[in-house]
Amino acid sequence: MLRLSIHRLLSVSSLARRSCIMQSVRGVQTPPKLQGKVALVTASTDGIGLAIARKLAQDGARVLISSRKQQNVDKAVKELKQEGLDVEGTVCHVGRSEDREKLVTTAVQKFGGIDILVSNAAVNPFFGNILDSTDEVWDKILDINVKAAFLLVKLVVPKMQERGGGSIVIVSSIAGFRPFPLLGPYSVSKTALLGLTKALAPELLPLNIRVNCLAPGLIRTKFSSALWENEAGLEQLTSALGINRIGEPEECAGVVSLLCSSEASYITGETIVVAGGGHSHL
Ligand SMILES: NC(=O)c1ccc[n+]([C@@H]2O[C@H](COP(=O)([O-])OP(=O)(O)OC[C@H]3O[C@@H](n4cnc5c(N)ncnc54)[C@H](OP(=O)(O)O)[C@@H]3O)[C@@H](O)[C@H]2O)c1
Repeated sequence: MLRLSIHRLLSVSSLARRSCIMQSVRGVQTPPKLQGKVALVTASTDGIGLAIARKLAQDGARVLISSRKQQNVDKAVKELKQEGLDVEGTVCHVGRSEDREKLVTTAVQKFGGIDILVSNAAVNPFFGNILDSTDEVWDKILDINVKAAFLLVKLVVPKMQERGGGSIVIVSSIAGFRPFPLLGPYSVSKTALLGLTKALAPELLPLNIRVNCLAPGLIRTKFSSALWENEAGLEQLTSALGINRIGEPEECAGVVSLLCSSEASYITGETIVVAGGGHSHL
């Protein structure tokens, strides 16, 4: 219910949205903050990625939606187009190099270049004591969550250079600061993304490309459903947070849009935690 009502609040009708497209500041019409920008968002057919894609498009960007399954891409693109948003879609399993390349070439073909990358895809194939995790578990988690994020950055940087700069946001997790119980390898991969952000930011600064990181707390999506579907378990988890409730995907999206915009032009190498007050220091 809460998710639905927040979603309704934030997803105003396409008519209302169009009327918001030009914001009036002291009578002067200013364009929306991402107007003219092209954004790639991985894993953007559901959950946090979909909310980010929607918000970037609401703020004026042209957005390329992607995930592994064609039917999910088609559904998300249809939904956002019906809201009057400028989006296209393509299949991209971030672990496949040919898919990553296709994602980049599709953005260039359809929209003429790339200004924004939101690297959001992650997997977690393992719950348990970290000492029980296998070679295969570590390979899968590090390949998808860390290596694919870096390799995609490497592919988009030359395209951003052609446009004179850009903005990259990498989606980590509050688990990157304090590992979640039974999610050791996943949590370590998310700590690595905090490091990847720090390593990339100074190198890309001379290219006018900013790199920042988002660390969500417990957000209501399919990915985290095992943690929140049981009400008693959810209460126990959220009572440990400053805000005594679970977060919604839309509560992550505005921060990402801000980081991608010129309003954040003096912010790079930072991680913004959206976790209702949860522990956020290494
Ligand atoms: N939910 C939370 O509480 C939470 C907290 C902290 C951080 N995060 C992070 O937020 C990000 C998004 O999570 P979420 O909760 O929004 O997940 P979600 O709602 O379950 O959505 C997952 C999305 O990822 C796509 N996907 C899965 N594997 C993929 C792959 N290999 N390549 C490309 N797309 C893939 C799925 O579509 P297909 O099935 O079509 O591929 C779907 O669009 C992840 O990085 C996660 O670690 C989530």
